[in-house]
Amino acid sequence: MACAACLSACRSPQSTFEAAGTESDAVNTLFLAMAAGAALIWLVVMGISLYATRAHRDAYSERAGIRLIVWGGVAFPVVTLTLLLGFGLALMPELRRPGDGPRIAISGERFWWRIFYDTSAEAGVQRSLPRSGVESANELWLPVGQRSELMLGSPDVVHSFWVPALGGKVDMIPGRVTRLVLEPTREGLYNGVCAEFCGTAHAQMAFRVRVVQPDVFAAYVAAQAAPAADRPDPGRDAFLAHGCGACHAVRGTQALGGVGPDLTHLGSRTTIGAAALPMSADAIARFIAAPGHVKQGVEMPAFAMVPQGEIASMAAWLEGLK
Ligand code: CUA
Repeated sequence: MACAACLSACRSPQSTFEAAGTESDAVNTLFLAMAAGAALIWLVVMGISLYATRAHRDAYSERAGIRLIVWGGVAFPVVTLTLLLGFGLALMPELRRPGDGPRIAISGERFWWRIFYDTSAEAGVQRSLPRSGVESANELWLPVGQRSELMLGSPDVVHSFWVPALGGKVDMIPGRVTRLVLEPTREGLYNGVCAEFCGTAHAQMAFRVRVVQPDVFAAYVAAQAAPAADRPDPGRDAFLAHGCGACHAVRGTQALGGVGPDLTHLGSRTTIGAAALPMSADAIARFIAAPGHVKQGVEMPAFAMVPQGEIASMAAWLEGLK
């Protein structure tokens, strides 16, 4: 009953039990084997201790005692632990297979995710994270059935990149590039999280992963590469006038900042503030006026002094950047 209740909570886009990738499948299999092994050992040990304390209360002879120690205390743990170790090692080649799909660089920032698609040229020799290609943030697209190679890094503190439904977590360490290969096997929208305490807003450092067909993925990257349509718009004018472009880039306009997330196609994402709020013009307006109320510890300053009307027009313009 309790088990069923626990497992029903595991049916979500953020569950390791709902494996949607080759790596998570292997991790899931390993977990089930380890759990079954542990349960079996527990049952045997409890059975023996009950037998010894209830059914067989007489003292053991010296020979019987030695036999019990040799078989139960040495042979049994050696055999079971060796079997479980062998099982775990046998799964490793599958997890270590190199990528054959796109190469994507992801930087853990405080407290969001900077993403560069199409960084294949630099990937082979890079010792620090490549900062070129098509930039986006907080929503990672991956092609189904391909082994995408993710290069992970961080400019300042340690984060940990984890998409439970797709694979194991890997730390993002300043000054190093760590690698993770993910092969999603099922299309869908999954949740990712930061799995290493990195500061006040750590718990709200999440992202979405959208797994799509390879041709849809290619079209997505091509669309993200295009600059924003730079039409005259009061929202755009307010955005530039209030200096938002010092931190944020909207490619195609004069906003070229690289401190905060690239907003060129913000409206095409499903969330804002690294999955803090669902995407809408209202949510963007709330975030601009008081980011700390939405997400405590966020680095972006509040812009509550900007008149409501201007915030609303900025939000509407940003939401329209598909
Ligand atoms: Cu980033 Cu925790």
